[in-house]
Amino acid sequence: MTTTDASSGARPETSGRAPGGDAPGATSRPAPRDGEPVLRLRSIGKSFGSVRALSGIDLDIPAGKVTALVGDNGAGKSTLIKAISGIAPPDEGQIVWQGEPVHVRTPKDATALGIATVYQDLALCDNLDIVQNMYLGHELLQHRLLDESAMELGAKQALAELSVVTVRSIRQVVGSLSGGQRQAVAVAKAVMGNARLVILDEPTAALGVSQTAMVLGLIQRLAERGVAVLVISHNLTDVFAVADYVAVLYLGRIAGSGPVGAFDTHSTVELITTGRTSRATSPDASDAGAVGGAAS
Ligand SMILES: Nc1ncnc2c1ncn2[C@@H]1O[C@H](COP(=O)(O)OP(=O)(O)OP(=O)(O)O)[C@@H](O)[C@H]1O
Ligand SMILES: [Mg+2]
Repeated sequence: MTTTDASSGARPETSGRAPGGDAPGATSRPAPRDGEPVLRLRSIGKSFGSVRALSGIDLDIPAGKVTALVGDNGAGKSTLIKAISGIAPPDEGQIVWQGEPVHVRTPKDATALGIATVYQDLALCDNLDIVQNMYLGHELLQHRLLDESAMELGAKQALAELSVVTVRSIRQVVGSLSGGQRQAVAVAKAVMGNARLVILDEPTAALGVSQTAMVLGLIQRLAERGVAVLVISHNLTDVFAVADYVAVLYLGRIAGSGPVGAFDTHSTVELITTGRTSRATSPDASDAGAVGGAAS
């Protein structure tokens, strides 16, 4: 199985059946089985004025697996994430969520579908504690008062489900946490809702060795829980440690994608830097649409 069917010539349906973002209702559907695509992108394109940031992006993100999105600076990784998470909707193409074409026009639409994004700056408040951060904006109330014990329990459970054991107290202010712990809190917060897809932008970029290992473990546990995980990373060691599938972006196009076993460091670096690879065993090398598509 590959994470993209760029070679199949799939094109967006023109039925206009997209249900819109008001009440996508997709979270009430049964969870897709491992390996089944939660999200399919078809012919996604996005321009900023004369800058063509994304072109013809076909990508499947399967449940219960980690998909790594790699690419050089300016390749379009953040733009793709913004398109999926409703921050900057695409100009072209189709987003198919659990089999249904949808429009993701705002971050709220994405949340309603079950898409949670953990941005690099994590958007946590340093002066608030873990519980306050996790429930910021959707605090639990009882008789019009904050239900502190319910929120403490929820925060504890969310961290425990991800096997986060290094946090001493959930009443610790986030500003006093290590980088890895902050990442863990941000991930736990993101998945506290019913997230079916978790997108992480450079989750280990600012971390040391042991904290990186902790966050990679966290990513694997998310996938084990059946969540589809999409990770952006510049660090190929991390990618090969954690990914089931790899997709390489080059100048706004998918230069190659497939199971991680079809990639090695050399071919991945080639794809990232040139959009091509000379390796015969390269990912999707037999599919002209994938690897070859990058340079067209
Ligand atoms: N708001 C914007 N206005 C104009 N151009 C933009 C905008 N956002 C992105 N771009 C352009 O789109 C292209 C893709 O940018 P993007 O930020 O998606 O790259 P990236 O792969 O995330 O890079 P990096 O690894 O540096 O974060 C770049 O050429 C960038 O300059
Ligand atoms: Mg970026």
